[in-house]
Amino acid sequence: MSAQAETGVIGGSGFYSFLDDVMEVAVDTPYGEPSDSLFIGEIAGRRVAFLPRHGRKHHLPPHRINYRANLWALRSVGVRRVLGPCAVGGLRPEYGPGTLVVPDQLVDRTKSRVQTYYDGEALPDGTVPNVVHLSFADPYCEAGRAAAVAAARGRGWEPVDGGTMVVIEGPRFSTRAESRWHAAQGWSVVGMTGHPEAVLARELGLCYSSLALVTDLDAGAGTGEGVSHEEVLQVFAQNVGRLREVLFDTVAGLPAERDCACATALDGLNLGIELP
Ligand code: ADE
Repeated sequence: MSAQAETGVIGGSGFYSFLDDVMEVAVDTPYGEPSDSLFIGEIAGRRVAFLPRHGRKHHLPPHRINYRANLWALRSVGVRRVLGPCAVGGLRPEYGPGTLVVPDQLVDRTKSRVQTYYDGEALPDGTVPNVVHLSFADPYCEAGRAAAVAAARGRGWEPVDGGTMVVIEGPRFSTRAESRWHAAQGWSVVGMTGHPEAVLARELGLCYSSLALVTDLDAGAGTGEGVSHEEVLQVFAQNVGRLREVLFDTVAGLPAERDCACATALDGLNLGIELP
């Protein structure tokens, strides 16, 4: 079995394994260690690398995840498309636990995370990245989003197609006032890991789409009473089976060629460093 893959899946809280017949591949990167080994297997004839975002034992809180190493590791085994399932809180009463949202926009409210590869820091091989400003107006891959929406529908799980995910620093949940403010902005769901994962994928020229599973109503949404980590894990566990099926079908349904905007995001740019 080869240690190469074309699609990456980064599993979130409660999602620590994905494929049955896998090859474990430990990858080192110029940015340090990824959250875990990559677990490479196959879906519908396509090679897929799974990476548990928090580590297989969930030892990494959202602000300690080495997002740069994770995306770099995936690219270095050949991955060009990434699916990022994650647990989120609903910001609207109608987005209760069990709702699947495939967002098309993102708001960054994180505070302490490195969110670029192009920061002037030399790589171990001595090369120094140039200053690079990428368009991020549309943070998610439209082809990946369409495949995820179609896959969910095919499994009878009508998803919310579009909407905004606000990403908070965590690890605490939002105060009621913060949550009410997020909801009042018209944002749909709140999570802790969607950023900088999405932008780092873009900076490596990868397609990235998020499949956000609502595990709770956030404190400011309707009768949201506040949320606990136990509740998040419990609801995720109840839904992980069908999320897995939707991810399988999403991978199988991705178009053979990448003709989306993400595929050409780095065209003509002088990055200063060589991507793996
Ligand atoms: N992940 C799951 N539920 C969440 C919430 N309510 N806020 C932030 N991240 C979450």
